[in-house]
Amino acid sequence: MSTIPPFVRLDGTICTLVIDCRGPAPAVLHWGAKLAKDATGDMLDLAAAREDAPCSPLVAPPLALTPLAGQGFPGRPGLQAHGAGGRRWATYTAIEDVRTGGDGSVEIRSVDAANGIELLHHLALRPDGGVLTGWTQVRNLGSDELVVDWCAAPVLPVPPEMVDWVSFEGRWSGEFQMRTLPRALGALNRENRRGRTSHDAFPALLAQETGAREQAGEVFGWHLGWSGNHATHAETLSDGRAYVQMGELFMPGEMRLAPGAAYRTPTLYAAWSGSGRNGLSSAFHTHIRARPQHRRLRVKPRPVHYNTWEAVYFKHDPARLLQFADAAADMGVERYVLDDGWFKGRRDDKAGLGDWFVDRSIYPDGLHPLAARVLERGMEFGLWVEPEMVNPDSDLFRAHPDWVLGTPPAPQLVFRNQLVLDASRDDVQEYLFERIDALLREYPISYLKWDMNRDLNHPGGADGAAAAHAHVRGLYRLLARVRAAHPGVEVESCASGGGRADLGVLEWTDRVWTSDTNDALDRQFIQRGLSTFLPFELMGAHVGPTDCHITGRRISMATRVATALFGHMGLEVDLLGLAAEERRELAAGIALHKQYRSLIHSGTLLRLDRPANEVAYGVVATDGGQALFSHVMISEQAGYFPGRLRFAGLDAAARYKVSLVWPGQVKSTSPLIAALRDGATFTGDMLMNVGLQLPRQHPQSALIYALTRLTK
Ligand code: DGJ
Repeated sequence: MSTIPPFVRLDGTICTLVIDCRGPAPAVLHWGAKLAKDATGDMLDLAAAREDAPCSPLVAPPLALTPLAGQGFPGRPGLQAHGAGGRRWATYTAIEDVRTGGDGSVEIRSVDAANGIELLHHLALRPDGGVLTGWTQVRNLGSDELVVDWCAAPVLPVPPEMVDWVSFEGRWSGEFQMRTLPRALGALNRENRRGRTSHDAFPALLAQETGAREQAGEVFGWHLGWSGNHATHAETLSDGRAYVQMGELFMPGEMRLAPGAAYRTPTLYAAWSGSGRNGLSSAFHTHIRARPQHRRLRVKPRPVHYNTWEAVYFKHDPARLLQFADAAADMGVERYVLDDGWFKGRRDDKAGLGDWFVDRSIYPDGLHPLAARVLERGMEFGLWVEPEMVNPDSDLFRAHPDWVLGTPPAPQLVFRNQLVLDASRDDVQEYLFERIDALLREYPISYLKWDMNRDLNHPGGADGAAAAHAHVRGLYRLLARVRAAHPGVEVESCASGGGRADLGVLEWTDRVWTSDTNDALDRQFIQRGLSTFLPFELMGAHVGPTDCHITGRRISMATRVATALFGHMGLEVDLLGLAAEERRELAAGIALHKQYRSLIHSGTLLRLDRPANEVAYGVVATDGGQALFSHVMISEQAGYFPGRLRFAGLDAAARYKVSLVWPGQVKSTSPLIAALRDGATFTGDMLMNVGLQLPRQHPQSALIYALTRLTK
C-alpha cells in the first residue's frame, strides 16, 4: 500500500503545478506562475476557500484533472462514458495510488470500484523546463463493454484575470491565423471532424490577460499532440471558475472498451508565461528541442531544399529534372525532393495514388539517373509519397476496393479524386510498408515528404464502425515502423500544406510543410502563428515563383528570400526560368541562410509588437552574443516615416555591431542605412529601448539586421 500525499507539487523553471490529492479525485489547486518554496498546498487551499452562496452547493465540486459527473461537476465532465443500459456514467473515484518520478513526473491512479472504471493521470514538468505534459487513461474494470464518448487529457484551470481566448483558425493556404475572443460565461467549443489535424482548427488555445501581447503579459497555452479529430472545450462556469479541456473527438460508438481494455488520450502540452506570448514560445521551443526525436535536427544542419512541385507539377520530364538538379546544386541547395507525379499512372491528380512503383513510361531507367545526379552533385535525394490515399483509378483500388474507409450506402464525397485507405488494417499496413521499404532499399532516398490530401469524410471501417481514431493510430504505427527500419531517413509531415502539423505526428517526423502558399506576405502571418508553438527549424519555408501560384501576388525575390530564410529553407521554383539577377539574389539568400542557420535553428525567437501592417521578429543566441532580426513592411506605411525598430532580448550593457545584411540593395538616402551597410555600434539597451529609425520602404519589402556583441 502506498501512502497518498495530500498534495503533489511540480516545479518548472517559471511555473508551478500543485495537485490536491486529499479528495476522491486529483484536483488542480494551482497552475501558473512559479510559487515560492514555502507556499504550501494548505495555503493554496485556504486562499481558495469561499463562502456559501445562494442557490449553490455548500462545497463546490472540485475542478479535478478529470472533472467527474459523480462529483456533480456543473461543467463538462472530463470523462463521458457509459456501460450497458446507460449505467456506469456517474463516475466517482477514490485515489488509490500516487507515484512520483525523479524527472518531475507523477502518475495518479483513481478507481471507481462501483462502476468499474480506473483513471490514470500522468503529468510531467521537468525542473529545467517550462512545458507541462500529460495524458489521461481510462480503463474498463467492469464486466461489460464501456463506451467512451469523451475523455479529456488532464484538465487545467484558468484564472479569471485571463479575459481573452486566442484561438488558431485558418483554411488551406491560410493556416495558423490567431483570433482573440473575449471570454464570456459559457464555452468556446472548437471541434475538428476532418480526420486530420486540419487547416482550420489547429489544436491549440491561449488564454491571456488584458493587453497581453507578444512581448508582455500573462499568457497560458495548450496544444494537443494529435493528428485526427479533436475538440477543445474552454468554459467559464457561473461560479467564476474556468478550465480548458482538450481531447480526441470520437464518432458515435467509436471508442468502446472491452473488459480490461484501456484508452489513453493524446499528450497535452501546456505552458504558462509572465512575459507575453514570446515567453510561451520560448518554453515550447525549448521543450521541443530537448525531445530525443529532435536530436538529429540538432546534430545536422537542416539541408536547404529544392522541391519540384511548383516548378513542374505533374509534368515530369527526366531531362529537365536533371537540369534542375544541376541548377539547384549550383545555387547551394543541399536536398532535392522529387514531388508528386513520379509513380505509375500519375499524370494528373485523377489516377495513380496507391501504385507506388516508378512510372517506367516516364522514367525508363527508374529514378536511378536522377538520384545518381543528385548525389553526385552533393545533395540528398528525397521523394514525395501519400501512403494513406488511393485513387479509384489505380491498380491497387481495382485489386482491393474493400481497403478504403467508407460509410456505405452513403456515397463518398469527391475530394481531389481520392479515397482514404483504412490504415488500421493489417493488410493495408503490410502493403504500404512493403512498398515504402522497397523504394527506400532500391534508391538512395534519405527523405520522404509524406502527404495527405483529403479529409476523412466517411471514416467507416470494414465492420461498419467508425475508424477515424484507428486510422490515426495506424498512421503512427506505419510511421514508427518505417522509422525503425530506416532510421536515417527523415520524414516531412504534409497535408495539403499545414493540415497535419502537430506534436503527435512530430513524434516520427522531422519537418512540417507549413502551408501550400509560398506567398511571402501570407507566409509572414502563417509562420508567425505557428511559431507560437513550433521552432523555425521544423517549419518548411520555400521561395516560390515570382507570381505566387496561389494568390497571384508578385513579390520581390528579396522579400521571398527574407521570408523563407527564417524557417527550414527551400526553393520551389522553375530554376531554369529565373532571370540571371534573380538567380544571383537567390544564391546570395541561400548563402545568408547558411551563415545564420545554426542561430535561426537554435536561438530564442522574439516576435516584436508592431503596427498591424508590419511583421517583425528576431532570433537571439541563447548567450545573447548574436542576433538576426527581420522587419517586413506588409502594406503602405501610415505616415511619412515608419517608426523605429526596437530590438529585444539583447545584453543591455553590451555594445553590438549592427549590420543591415539583407537585401543587397536598399533604396534609401538615410545616413543610418548607409552606416548600417558597414556596421554601426550601439549599446544593447539603446537598441532595445530607443531603437533604430526604419528607412522608408515600399510595401512588401523586408530588411534583415545582424547583431554581434562586441567584446569589451
Ligand atoms: C499538397 C502539398 O502540400 C504540395 O506541396 C504538393 O506536394 C501536392 N500536395 C502534391 O500533390
